[in-house]
Amino acid sequence: MINRPADFRHDAVTQGLHWLVALAILLAYGSSLIMDDWPRGAFKAQLLGGHVALGLTVLGLTALRILWRALMAPPAPPDGSPGLRRIARAAHLALYLAMLAVPLLGLLMMWSTGREVSFLWLFTIPSPLPVDRALGRLLAEGHELAAHGLILLAGLHAAAAIFHQFALKDGLMQRMMPRIIAFKAPGGPPPTTTQRSDFS
Ligand code: HEM
Ligand code: HEM
Repeated sequence: MINRPADFRHDAVTQGLHWLVALAILLAYGSSLIMDDWPRGAFKAQLLGGHVALGLTVLGLTALRILWRALMAPPAPPDGSPGLRRIARAAHLALYLAMLAVPLLGLLMMWSTGREVSFLWLFTIPSPLPVDRALGRLLAEGHELAAHGLILLAGLHAAAAIFHQFALKDGLMQRMMPRIIAFKAPGGPPPTTTQRSDFS
């Protein structure tokens, strides 16, 4: 008998935000790696502009996602031991915290060094903070360290989802996939129920 913990899917908004934010985080991280090695110049400045815009997108969409999650009860949690559920909940909480902390540290770092923050050509927010270079350096270290932590957490999280889907074959990844993407899992068709619970 297949133990299928993925009885219910997350709603389409949650799924859309999950994958958009994941993509923006990977692109922001990727751009930071290129930025790091690139010599000063116009291209580096453009890369930084793209990095900041991607980071602000992560911040905005994560705030929206947290609001949405507070308004819409998530689906019932997958089956599993209470210990494993607690670990999954703690990992998701840590991910949310890192998704907020990394861009916020980036924002504060720029402001504390007197730089304005632009979202492409759309808008610019001048620094509301007094210039403090020592604090700026500290925030830059914190931003970089937190970003590595976020990527590590996200990697472990993705590995766990892939392990569930392809080793345990319990259909967990379908909770974050639209109905049209149906992985072939033994034990019948993918879950179709949309019942929701107040469990969070
Ligand atoms: C999830 C979003 C983000 C990720 C994953 C990320 C990641 C990183 C990483 C890893 C670095 C270090 C690069 C190096 O080795 O020097 C970096 C640098 C930087 N980030 Fe971000 N960042 C994000 C969001 C932001 C935001 C929102 C801003 C500003 C509003 C920002 C501004 C900067 C700046 C200015 C640097 C260069 C720091 C320096 O001068 O040393 N980042 N970012
Ligand atoms: C930067 C990358 C990623 C971030 C920041 C991230 C973040 C999150 C967060 C915070 C949740 C909790 C949703 C909630 O209950 O509120 C979640 C759920 C989920 N994620 Fe990710 N994720 C990322 C990448 C991935 C990848 C690559 C996969 C698949 C390989 C994946 C698969 C899933 C699945 C299946 C769930 C639902 C788990 C459940 O309902 O118990 N995620 N993700």
